[in-house]
Amino acid sequence: MKKINNRTRRVFLKNAAATSLITAVGSVETIASAETQDNDRNDYGFDKVFNRIGVNSMKWDGAIEKYGKDKIKVPMTIADMDFKQMPAVTQALMERLQYEGFGYETPSDEFYQSIIDWQRNQHKLILKKEWIRNSPGVTDAIGPALRALNPTGGKVLVMTPTYSGFMHEIERVRMGIEMSPMKNISGRWEMDLVDLEKRIDSNTKCLILCNPNNPTGECWTVNELRKLGDVCIRNGITVFSDEIWADVVRAGKKYTPYASIGEKYANSSITFTSSAKVFNQPMLKVSYFYSKNVDLINAVMQNGGHHDEVNTFGIVATETAYRKGEDWMNKMNKYVEENFVYLESFVNELGELPGVTFSKPESTYFAWLECSELMQKIIQNESQTRNKDISNPENLMSDWLIENAGVQLDPGINYGIGGEGYLRMNIAVSREHLTLALNNLSRAAKMLIW
Ligand SMILES: Cc1ncc(COP(=O)(O)O)c(C=O)c1O
Repeated sequence: MKKINNRTRRVFLKNAAATSLITAVGSVETIASAETQDNDRNDYGFDKVFNRIGVNSMKWDGAIEKYGKDKIKVPMTIADMDFKQMPAVTQALMERLQYEGFGYETPSDEFYQSIIDWQRNQHKLILKKEWIRNSPGVTDAIGPALRALNPTGGKVLVMTPTYSGFMHEIERVRMGIEMSPMKNISGRWEMDLVDLEKRIDSNTKCLILCNPNNPTGECWTVNELRKLGDVCIRNGITVFSDEIWADVVRAGKKYTPYASIGEKYANSSITFTSSAKVFNQPMLKVSYFYSKNVDLINAVMQNGGHHDEVNTFGIVATETAYRKGEDWMNKMNKYVEENFVYLESFVNELGELPGVTFSKPESTYFAWLECSELMQKIIQNESQTRNKDISNPENLMSDWLIENAGVQLDPGINYGIGGEGYLRMNIAVSREHLTLALNNLSRAAKMLIW
């Protein structure tokens, strides 16, 4: 365990006390059954426990159904936030409900304008309405786009570790996945373009880029994106840039839209994005994709057979969030940032999670935890004492932590080559739940490493 200096410990304990650190020892802490008081309405209640049990939440109810209520204390998996919706959006949805009609609708010009204004104001990206199409979800559009632009069904490039949904979508349209592993350089993952180019053959037509990258969090720079773009253009590859994490970015870090790095890059790419991650609205089912090259867009619609009808409430939610949500977004990002600082202190400075290291990501609300030492101890323990199957060590580690800490984390291997020994932790939660989870994980890890 790392040495802790007194000042660090004092600062940490002060912060911990301010956010109700749970100090019991010996057993797994349980979650608060009731929601905590909303003591700071102006901050939208991020610090309040928002109960998500009993509303078919995939993260909460799904885990409880699978593992049992007594086992799951804090699930920290699927990419949504344990935060309440922004009041302006809830209000707009209630107003829309007052008109009790749900016939077919066409998204209004105001809806498109809210997207155009958001992209211009937040990211200096200039879009035109005719470049934009809708989709229920980002992944719902990627499948048709692959069918349209990879007609020979060849392999699709991804740089791993990256979002597992890409792999599922590529498999769903019966294409091959070609993973180019990135390199971890002092905690920041970097593209390996030499490796990437070697993997291209005459049947490789598309690359799916995650910008910023889930799960490792890099906000790719203009330089990195241009170098990648040059490889793709040289080889006739269309870039699918998934930018759903664009607005969940740490202070001082910068997301760069792929379509903003130059004309030739914009013309050989499609960008897929939505308000769903930053404003926590994935089940409202509305996203959009755009390209300056309308031939690419037309191909997705016609050859790919994409349906662009979206949900009435999703349209209201996106437009309202993009019009009124900047303050909510900034405060959410600040709260998540403070969670990262807390986590960094707990893991790296205090060494309270033995066998685990972590670097603060540039984007997303995921901590990408390097756990190979802890994993080895778990493998040793489980194979010797319980004769468990160790063929998938990341799953074994995840199951072990559910059993011994009540905390569910995503096995790193789900994100492709490079995810070995890692776990992904979603920290878009109240500080109370983060503290509870970390204390439980700490106690469990210390049973094996001390
Ligand atoms: C990079 C990325 N793209 C897409 C999605 C899913 O988006 P949707 O629900 O709009 O399909 C996620 C969800 O975690 C994601 O991380």
